[in-house]
Amino acid sequence: MPSLNRGFALTWLGHNSFKLVTRGARTVLIDPWVEGNPACPKELKTFDKIDVMTISHGHGDHMADAATLGKKFKPTIVCNYEIHLFLQKKGVPSTSPMNKGGTQEVAGLRFTMVHAVHSSGIEDGGQVIYGGEPCGFVITLEDGTRIYHAGDTGAHADMALIGELYAPDIALLPIGDLFTMSPREAAVAARMLKPRYIVPAHYGTFPALTGTPDMLRDELKQFGVKSEVVALRPGETLS
Ligand code: NI
Ligand code: MN
Repeated sequence: MPSLNRGFALTWLGHNSFKLVTRGARTVLIDPWVEGNPACPKELKTFDKIDVMTISHGHGDHMADAATLGKKFKPTIVCNYEIHLFLQKKGVPSTSPMNKGGTQEVAGLRFTMVHAVHSSGIEDGGQVIYGGEPCGFVITLEDGTRIYHAGDTGAHADMALIGELYAPDIALLPIGDLFTMSPREAAVAARMLKPRYIVPAHYGTFPALTGTPDMLRDELKQFGVKSEVVALRPGETLS
């Protein structure tokens, strides 16, 4: 694994879920889907603590474990207003809602909510509940490192704004195709975002998610984008 010589460890839990442990020993769970996540290694389905949780949108493969883990570990849950209302109703104690363009500081880290192009309905008891707008997050760590978790999204022109405003060092980009960007869109996204590293996600979980890191490397070359692809295996850590 390349070492960034900075204080954090980012572990891919499979699909679009990540665990981030910062220099200040804060544990951030990004898009909590572990229990039913076929790509998540068993030993990573349990936690010692969770300080902060971010939720990009209402789909089950991004928040199925939000209520359970939210009640157990009482992390501050950073999410949109509609998901906040939903989780409150489920008895989750510590949501901290926000909306796109805003930033809030939690546990010494900064969370900026940014645009994503997707949907966000929450399935609950056979009904679909309005889950607000899907989003991504730029997380600014104690040492200033900026990690952009795109959530589920197609490529969109606001990524140029995200690049200009937040200049992410690392971009966690979906590449699986079908429900999100494919490697081709992700390469153009990276051209706008200009991250030093790309960690591909939302691929390989199911056969239908066909994008691969090698395809992304080819597309980046085609588009003349210099970002380096760091392809983690589920359970593997970038530190
Ligand atoms: Ni989704
Ligand atoms: Mn998804």
